[in-house]
Amino acid sequence: MSSNSRFVPLVLKTDTEPNMNKNLISAAYKSLSLLVVFALLSITSYSQEISRDPAAISAGEALFNANCKTCHRVHQKLVGPALQDVYNRAPSIDWIKSFVKNSAGVIAGGDDYAVKLYNEFNKTQMTAFSSLKDEDIMNVLAYIQAETEKGPEVAKPTAGPAGPQAPTEEGLPAKYLNVILVGMVLILILLLVILGFLVSAMKRFLDQKELSPEDKEVVNSPITFGSITRSPGFIFIVLFLVAALGFKAVVNGLYSIGVQQGYAPKQPIAFSHKIHAGQYEIDCKYCHVGVMKGKSATIPSINICMNCHNQIRQGAVTGEAEIAKLVSAWDSKKPIEWVRIHNLPDLAYFNHSQHVNVAGVECQTCHGPIETMDVVRQHSLLTMGWCIDCHRKTDVNSKGNAYYDKLVELHNKKSKTPMKVEEIGGLECAKCHY
Ligand code: HEC
Ligand code: HEC
Ligand code: HEC
Ligand code: HEC
Ligand code: HEC
Ligand code: HEC
Repeated sequence: MSSNSRFVPLVLKTDTEPNMNKNLISAAYKSLSLLVVFALLSITSYSQEISRDPAAISAGEALFNANCKTCHRVHQKLVGPALQDVYNRAPSIDWIKSFVKNSAGVIAGGDDYAVKLYNEFNKTQMTAFSSLKDEDIMNVLAYIQAETEKGPEVAKPTAGPAGPQAPTEEGLPAKYLNVILVGMVLILILLLVILGFLVSAMKRFLDQKELSPEDKEVVNSPITFGSITRSPGFIFIVLFLVAALGFKAVVNGLYSIGVQQGYAPKQPIAFSHKIHAGQYEIDCKYCHVGVMKGKSATIPSINICMNCHNQIRQGAVTGEAEIAKLVSAWDSKKPIEWVRIHNLPDLAYFNHSQHVNVAGVECQTCHGPIETMDVVRQHSLLTMGWCIDCHRKTDVNSKGNAYYDKLVELHNKKSKTPMKVEEIGGLECAKCHY
């Protein structure tokens, strides 16, 4: 009520004031209402429309990661601009909606802002997301707004390709082993010194006793290098060690015939999975396009690389040199001759889509932590035993797969354990051998 009572005298007063005063007040009133309208407008077109609902933000985050992250970050320019604050920068929210749905259309329509941006980004075409609904895009914006307000993350652990994460699982055991070995050698030396002291103390003790001449000779006989190496015990130990080491080398050699675990050849271009799949989190399937639908995962052709490297010509680790090789291969239309790493013999048949798409096995189960490797190395044995072992242990992923309904029903009548790959024929020779 108090605000009303203050307002009323003002109105009454204006009626009684001279003209000049009246004009002043009406001007002030006009500009005030303009301000209010402007504030209302800016609220509706910016902050009020973009939701702060946590559900919207997390839905937006999922959409952003699935669709936009290959090219955009919130706080960092990548293939496309950093999207922080974009809702304030772009002409309008509606503009953003139509740009995301069909950027080519907006650019072709001659929109100034879009054309300028397009040229600024070397005419890189943004994917058209015609399937995204308005509310999806609003959720993405909710996520971008939340991230913008959070500010850039400080000291991201994966910031540098040579980040502190590098030496992980492989480094540790080897280090411990060395420490243990050094410790054991030190203990051995200590034992030898103590034994030496004991021997000389014994000698002094025996010297004071009355001994026969033969015993005296034994006690005083010097322990020389010769006397040790000639002793039968020593000869036995040496022969045993040589035989054991030789045997181990032969067995190792036999086992590794045709086995290429750990094989990591140098590639024609220093392409790094650690940078692309690790640091920039590009989805494996973005490059290895065959993985969901075919036998072979396929190595990406240069045009997939050029989606981004049309833009990015400078690497943090190798500078321009390695990307220049890529660009010159692109210009000369020569395919890059990547060295093949994983290779089964012709007699065996392996199908990626069966394992990745149907069974839902993660790439890393078979290929190891590829996203941490600067140079790809073969992680698994890739022997027949390796395939069979997994088929014995792994349950068939039959959920939502009508193809398996009958089999699962039959299986459950006979057994209480989940159906293994073995039980759908995963051990039959002909499934893997032509
Ligand atoms: C293939 C890479 C790529 C993908 C994927 C991509 N964008 Fe873009 N985006 C770009 C590029 C490049 C530009 C700069 C304009 C141009 O070249 O067309 C851009 C520009 C934009 C702009 C305008 C930025 C500004 O500064 O005004 C918005 C907004 C945007 N993208 C949103 C999205 C959203 C949301 C997604 C996911 C649904 C997405 N983009 C996915 C490449 C991409
Ligand atoms: C930006 C594109 C790109 C992305 C993303 C990518 N790769 Fe690769 N991948 C390549 C290229 C190029 C090669 C061939 C050069 C090499 O071996 O480094 C390759 C090679 C491989 C190989 C070895 C192929 C052989 O010769 O046997 C495996 C396995 C592999 N990638 C798995 C993955 C997995 C798993 C992911 C996701 C974590 C992934 N890749 C993400 C481009 C990519
Ligand atoms: C989705 C975008 C994208 C794709 C696709 C892509 N790259 Fe990259 N690439 C990048 C980014 C981002 C960088 C990092 C630039 C930096 O170091 O700041 C990079 C860096 C590089 C570097 C330099 C690494 C360094 O730091 O010195 C090489 C070489 C390279 N890429 C090769 C390739 C090859 C070959 C392909 C195709 C198989 C490919 N890239 C596909 C985004 C991409
Ligand atoms: C069940 C184990 C398994 C899984 C899961 C798996 N791979 Fe493979 N991958 C293999 C085997 C085995 C080979 C060798 C195939 C051959 O020589 O015929 C291979 C070869 C490859 C190759 C090189 C040759 C080719 O087929 O083009 C690439 C690239 C590759 N895998 C990428 C991937 C990616 C990316 C994923 C995840 C989306 C994945 N793999 C999942 C076992 C697996
Ligand atoms: C990480 C575990 C794993 C490894 C390793 C693995 N497989 Fe499989 N494999 C599966 C699963 C799970 C299925 C069941 C897929 C399905 O539901 O159809 C399967 C199915 C198959 C099938 C179809 C079987 C059928 O009866 O339909 C073949 C063929 C096959 N694998 C070959 C191989 C070969 C060859 C290798 C080794 C180079 C291999 N697999 C390694 C998990 C594995
Ligand atoms: C799950 C898939 C799978 C099944 C089932 C399977 N094999 Fe194999 N087999 C392989 C793979 C993969 C290799 C190649 C291994 C290598 O290169 O070390 C192989 C290799 C072989 C070889 C060649 C060995 C060599 O040293 O070159 C013979 C022989 C063989 N298998 C016989 C059989 C017989 C017989 C059966 C049925 C009882 C059978 N396999 C079932 C996957 C399978």
